[in-house]
Amino acid sequence: MRCDQTLAWQALQVHADKFKGFDLRSAFADDADRAADLSQSAPHVFADLSKNHIDRATEALLLGLAQQTGLTQHRDAMFRGEPINNTEGRAVMHWLLRQPSSSASDPAALQTVQADPPTVRADSPTVRAELVEALSQVHTTLDAMLAYAEQIRADAQITDVVNIGIGGSDLGPQTAVLALQDFVLPGKRFHFVSNVDGHELAAVLKDLRPENTLFLIASKTFTTLETMTNARSALAWFKAQGGSDVARHFAALTTNVSAAAEFGIRTTFGFWDWVGGRYSMWSAIGMPIAIAIGASGFKDLLAGAHARDQHFQSAPLAKNLPVRLGLLDVWYRNFMGYTSRSIAPYHSALRRVPAYLQQLEMESNGKRVDRNGNALPYGTSPVLWGEPGTNGQHAYFQMLHQGTDVVPLEFIAVKKPTHRLKDHHELLLANAIAQAQALMLGQADNGGHKHFTGNRPSTFFLLDELTPASLGALIALQEHRVFVSGAVWSINSFDQWGVELGKVLARDIHARIVSGDASGLDASTAALLARVR
Ligand code: F6P
Repeated sequence: MRCDQTLAWQALQVHADKFKGFDLRSAFADDADRAADLSQSAPHVFADLSKNHIDRATEALLLGLAQQTGLTQHRDAMFRGEPINNTEGRAVMHWLLRQPSSSASDPAALQTVQADPPTVRADSPTVRAELVEALSQVHTTLDAMLAYAEQIRADAQITDVVNIGIGGSDLGPQTAVLALQDFVLPGKRFHFVSNVDGHELAAVLKDLRPENTLFLIASKTFTTLETMTNARSALAWFKAQGGSDVARHFAALTTNVSAAAEFGIRTTFGFWDWVGGRYSMWSAIGMPIAIAIGASGFKDLLAGAHARDQHFQSAPLAKNLPVRLGLLDVWYRNFMGYTSRSIAPYHSALRRVPAYLQQLEMESNGKRVDRNGNALPYGTSPVLWGEPGTNGQHAYFQMLHQGTDVVPLEFIAVKKPTHRLKDHHELLLANAIAQAQALMLGQADNGGHKHFTGNRPSTFFLLDELTPASLGALIALQEHRVFVSGAVWSINSFDQWGVELGKVLARDIHARIVSGDASGLDASTAALLARVR
């Protein structure tokens, strides 16, 4: 049932009305167990949700909403490999990329029976056989990919790896390689070129030599304008610089193996249409990560994500972290009127995480229609944005503390540093905790400029260490959280039709820039065209 037609939705509306006077400070004063009850440890991540505008009744009502909208059935359909990406007729199985190969010989392990609430399990032998077959292909490809990654790692002549890809074919690998910089093999440099803006590729190429460079052309479709333009220019540069062994210096990561071959690339690592672009870092798209941190590091990344998959599939909903987070997102968006969420990683290696999460959330849930194409009467994806702390504190945190809008903030901190510089890490963590505290406590000043209203919500994620496994678990947590809110909103979180119109119009405008033909254009577009020519 659509969320706004459920009894739980009505009950949440009444609850939200009563909730208007909610104050975090009194909530803590009145309830000694609040911090413990509203926080939890889940694989690799501790999450403190207690500084949010919720109480136990809110969470109970939200769980009712999850049940009445069929969240667990939708989740189970994903894990059964059903085509829940209905507008493209595709299954959604990035989780299968993280399944250990041992589950292929034990088909039952491919599906975990969910305990809460009990769901009917479709024991279709055909479906299971397909999953077993898919998993075996996943592991054959993974083995080939990791063997190649190890070969490149051992190849001292290759000093520079250039990933050419955009969106999901860029953000995942880039975020992970940066995040795991302490695990990266010395002697290899990684570059990420995404934009069609030639300044980006030119700036990278100027420091490279063809004999020392490996280009990875990462594109699920192998048709994306930016990636194809950059790939052609990279190949032209390679040849102009005297490079000849394309097979050794170019590899493609794609589902469109024939297009890669047509392009002239013979070394190709494939994946499947059931892996969405923004969910693809676990596939061959993760090649830069595998080269950077090695086969065993990549396996750890997958294992961390797999632990999260199991948690999402089997933890009771009340203690299921992605479920709690996704429901919190629905509560904030639809009942509290908060339209944005800010992400503050208190770790400089996590500096691309906000951009990564932006695509994950906004491309998945930035939809105005339900799965059947009917307009939705309620808000969906919030605006996601952010920068690492403490930098943000000296930039836009002012607005978070004293602005007119309430913006829930999410801290991501790591307990153990990997450097030995005295004082830094304690200061970093102190700032993260103090910001969460300041947002909540505020400061009285008779309504003057130094007045902080306080009662501003935040969530605090803490990892013990930043490792491939903890990063995998953190990212999979966010994937499943987006799944949860999208499912409650009846959205297909796995298509992205909203990016298509701009692509079509760009082709038309490009032709007009070349020809000068402005016929039929509106006055503003025609004038801009004339100015850029
Ligand atoms: O245009 C958006 C998008 O389709 C993203 O969903 C995707 O991650 C990106 O482009 C890149 O697509 P591809 O991997 O096919 O080049």
